[in-house]
Amino acid sequence: MKQFIAALPKVELHLHIEGTLEPELMFALAERNGIKLPYADVAALRAAYDFHNLQSFLDLYYQGAAVLQTEQDFFDLTWAYLSRCQAQHVVHTELFFDPQTHLSRGIEMGTVIRGISRALDQAQTQWGISSCLILCFLRHLSQEDALATLEAALPYLDKIQGVGLDSSELGNPPSKFSEVFARASALGLKAVAHAGEEGPASYIWEALDQLKVCRIDHGVRSVDDPRLIARLAEEQIPLTVCPLSNTRLKVFDKMADHNLLQLLDQDVCVTVNSDDPAYFGGYLQENFEALARDLKASREQLRQLALNGVQASWLPVSRKKTLIAEILMLP
Ligand code: ADE
Ligand code: ZN
Repeated sequence: MKQFIAALPKVELHLHIEGTLEPELMFALAERNGIKLPYADVAALRAAYDFHNLQSFLDLYYQGAAVLQTEQDFFDLTWAYLSRCQAQHVVHTELFFDPQTHLSRGIEMGTVIRGISRALDQAQTQWGISSCLILCFLRHLSQEDALATLEAALPYLDKIQGVGLDSSELGNPPSKFSEVFARASALGLKAVAHAGEEGPASYIWEALDQLKVCRIDHGVRSVDDPRLIARLAEEQIPLTVCPLSNTRLKVFDKMADHNLLQLLDQDVCVTVNSDDPAYFGGYLQENFEALARDLKASREQLRQLALNGVQASWLPVSRKKTLIAEILMLP
């Protein structure tokens, strides 16, 4: 099964670039930038990755991102992730970045976007790995802050394909951001949003109807609402599900309790993704492997999940067709 998963051309649609910051690189960048981390070493940092919910993770994740200072730092971070993509046969990735985390520390938007996009361009040239970049708004901050962030990104719109919504979900419903998503849509950007990770199914309705998103990130709480499941299946609205993330953040107690296959059985366009792999114990390959091992997902179910990833992506139809043919051809 491991070999089958490794041979699948895989697409990733839910990946926070700041969440790929491995402890080793965090320490190296801290040293390069003269920053002192509140951990003795890599082992002590890893030991702190013991989360009980989304917020306990986010607190560490924002603290870790503070080592990212220069364009080269953002390049190195992104290049390290793309090297994993190359090693795991991830052929296309649509990744998030959180500019507000960096702007609030005095880092310029151009520093962040230039560093990330230079790595994305190099991976396309060197390895044929294609990508899209999605600017995420932090939902624990205000809509005014999100609007100012979008404004700051205007000179770089040619490098961004969509906007997203992440960070602390409970108490920060999608409706809080309807204006900034309308503005992004008017600028020609696509939209996605985290919804139904810890928050209720009603947040998924809001993301669809008020933010006009084309995919839901996570969305696992949709199972609480049969009408919503019927809509997701009918309209084939993709869910970007992140199995290892959901168990590490206690959305499900253990992998065997995960509802991913239940969603797939109900004809929802479920995809598999790694979210913040440096913090949750695995990249895309390991997420697929966990489904095979702990949910007993069959080869055909894994194939369907890979096909859904291609279908749910923003790739041109011609490349989708090529990848679909490759996935169907695998024995
Ligand atoms: N930012 C990074 N990972 C996230 C997640 N799983 N949910 C919400 N915000 C995030
Ligand atoms: Zn996420």
